[in-house]
Amino acid sequence: MCGIVGFTGKRQAAPILLDGLAKLEYRGYDSAGMAVSDENGKTEVVKAKGRLRALEEKTDNGLAVKGCCGIGHTRWATHGEPSEENAHPHVSDDMSVVAVHNGIIENYQEIKEKLRKKNYSFYSQTDTEAIVKLIDYYYKKYNAGPVDAIAKAMVRVRGSYALAVMFKDYPGEIYAARKDSPMIIGTENGESYLASDVPAILKHTRNVYYIGNLEMARLSPEGVEFYNIDGDIIEKKYVEIIWDAEAAEKGGFAHFMLKEIHEQPKAVADTLASAVKDGRIDLSSVGLTDEDMKGIGQIIIVACGSSYHVGMAAQYVIEDLAHIPVRVELASEFRYRTNLLKDNDLVVFISQSGETADTLAALRAVKEQGINTLAIVNVVGSSIAREADNVFYTLAGPEIAVATTKAYSTQLIVSYLLAVQLAMVRGEIDEERYSSLIAELMSLPEKMQKLLENKERIQWFAAKFANAKDIFFIGRGIDYAICLEGSLKLKEISYIHSEAYAAGELKHGTISLIEEGTLVVGVLTQKELFEKTISNMVEVKSRGAYLMGLTTYGHYSLEDTADFTVYVPQTDEHFAPSLAVIPLQLMSYYVSVAKGLDPDKPRNLAKSVTVE
Ligand code: G6P
Repeated sequence: MCGIVGFTGKRQAAPILLDGLAKLEYRGYDSAGMAVSDENGKTEVVKAKGRLRALEEKTDNGLAVKGCCGIGHTRWATHGEPSEENAHPHVSDDMSVVAVHNGIIENYQEIKEKLRKKNYSFYSQTDTEAIVKLIDYYYKKYNAGPVDAIAKAMVRVRGSYALAVMFKDYPGEIYAARKDSPMIIGTENGESYLASDVPAILKHTRNVYYIGNLEMARLSPEGVEFYNIDGDIIEKKYVEIIWDAEAAEKGGFAHFMLKEIHEQPKAVADTLASAVKDGRIDLSSVGLTDEDMKGIGQIIIVACGSSYHVGMAAQYVIEDLAHIPVRVELASEFRYRTNLLKDNDLVVFISQSGETADTLAALRAVKEQGINTLAIVNVVGSSIAREADNVFYTLAGPEIAVATTKAYSTQLIVSYLLAVQLAMVRGEIDEERYSSLIAELMSLPEKMQKLLENKERIQWFAAKFANAKDIFFIGRGIDYAICLEGSLKLKEISYIHSEAYAAGELKHGTISLIEEGTLVVGVLTQKELFEKTISNMVEVKSRGAYLMGLTTYGHYSLEDTADFTVYVPQTDEHFAPSLAVIPLQLMSYYVSVAKGLDPDKPRNLAKSVTVE
């Protein structure tokens, strides 16, 4: 995700940059850096691995770095491990161009190749270094100034970016460009500011400009000028920010959890873009070859909490599409069992943090047996990511709320991508099905966005059940996997007792808990199992249950049975969890808020569980 800041004015830049970065640390915290230039364009770059504190110490809280114009960055690694080398700012060889970047340059390999032929070399593993050197290349080749060079680079790159660039020949100026990554600009009293998010500059100005997609800006102490991609000057009006400082850190959302729920379409789109190239799934960066995939005998998925629930959904999808037997195991159980693994098994570890103690211990035990391991991890450079044979990174960005939402959604996406690719490579699906599954995956972010735009009904319904004693979730097949996650979300942040049950198992015990008015949530996204689950819903209704039904558009007959029905857009049934989980996340969130609790910090729970 990353956070960027920029300042040019009369005061020393470094302390102002550090102060701004501190407000953005929620966007990334594995390394930080800054570049500050003096009135002659002489630029000093300082970077440090670790949290912002390390950069503060290295620069004596900014006092050791002199100059009134600068850019800064706090990093959340996506390309290249967290290290000083990969930290921003990145620079061209002669320091003509220095830049910080938030976003992902998807075709950075291609750009590096092109530039290598022009005698450029690369010192980092980042995508950012590629765009910095591309700007440098156009700047020197056409000699038409910063705006022209940046515009040419913008035409050449694919992906998302908020870029802040300083040119040695233009002291006191910062150039900015944006596509799909956030950036705001403010100017007041002979000073100009730039940042990924409002809190970083709120102290200095409340009047901000929102720079649009494919637009550029030139910041100087005198003010700011905006340009379109053709380099023509465009007019912009500032907006007055009325948020208080705390609300600003959450982007205007009341809690990080709600913000992260809303970030899901973007997180999913980024994760898809990292693996889908020209309509095909490309796992070369994961390191899984077609030969590896053809040779797999069995897949064992090991994880904890919500990551385990992703495994449960993945099991259905991989078995159904790729016809490979899949076992799903809780890491805390798996690590203490005799596991009869075979040489051609693939053991997949799913973890947002990459540090969960049980998952890490299970990984080490499997590695000792010499079995091939694959990690699906969000935090780059975390222990599980480092120790597994192969890593498939989810691109959810930092997750702050304890209860996972966007990381869960990106883990699901990775498991679908694996399932579809395994199916294709092993000849279980043909080209036509392969293309249609990929097209369906690519349409998920838009469908998720639609769901988020209609959340008021869920909010109203959640408030009605805020005082419930027990809530049950029932479903079959993949819907059971969704129920497990819906139930966990609810209990962790609302403290309401909740259970997820495979609908067919209800009558073996749990049905005795149903009382007059007990809320039972039925999840029914799978056509073949629809009527079976309806029958189970009728069974609990006749014992007094109040029924909420969650299904896809088209299954309107559910309304004959359920008291309250929620629809999600249609998609391939294998991918339904990505959509169905959103109303359940929202329901948990709104129940928690209606009870006056803090959904971001539920009692007794931790984001990363590094003890057994
Ligand atoms: C904690 C978190 C959960 C998470 C689980 C596993 O319990 O609160 O949201 O699913 O740990 O964490 P991991 O980082 O391994 O996915």
